[in-house]
Amino acid sequence: MNDQNERRGFLLACVGALAAVPILGGAFAALRTMLSPAGGTSEVRQSLCKLSEVPAEGLLERTVSYRLRRGPAVETISRKVFLTRDEGQVIALSSRCTHLGCAVNLDKESTTAPLICPCHDGRFDAKGAVIDGPATRPLERLKLEIPEEEDGSVLLIL
Ligand code: FES
Repeated sequence: MNDQNERRGFLLACVGALAAVPILGGAFAALRTMLSPAGGTSEVRQSLCKLSEVPAEGLLERTVSYRLRRGPAVETISRKVFLTRDEGQVIALSSRCTHLGCAVNLDKESTTAPLICPCHDGRFDAKGAVIDGPATRPLERLKLEIPEEEDGSVLLIL
């Protein structure tokens, strides 16, 4: 009788564990959807320009817009991105200042510090390094997918 009770308890524990798998999986999927870009996928690719358009010197400015899901709300976000080449490699710099997050602007007149943050006069060079101001970290380099051909599209991965 005691063996039967133990066996029954073990079987009930197994059934409970099996029932929890889809419940936990559903909860995880819902959480992932709430935090991901709108559309439900975890990565979004957005075309920035042709590879041949990225300058070796200076910066190419592009604006990207994407929808981001924050809980039940979907927000449309627009951000500037700056493209250039660093030792031949195409790079994309975030326009978000690393001091307090203001939007950095392009100053076409300046060759040494062409990226300016208007909030506290922060200045960055064309590779994103801090030149002046309170920021201590360079501008973030964004994730890209670079095409093989010069007429292929440089994709920003969000
Ligand atoms: S937020 Fe950019 S310098 Fe302060």
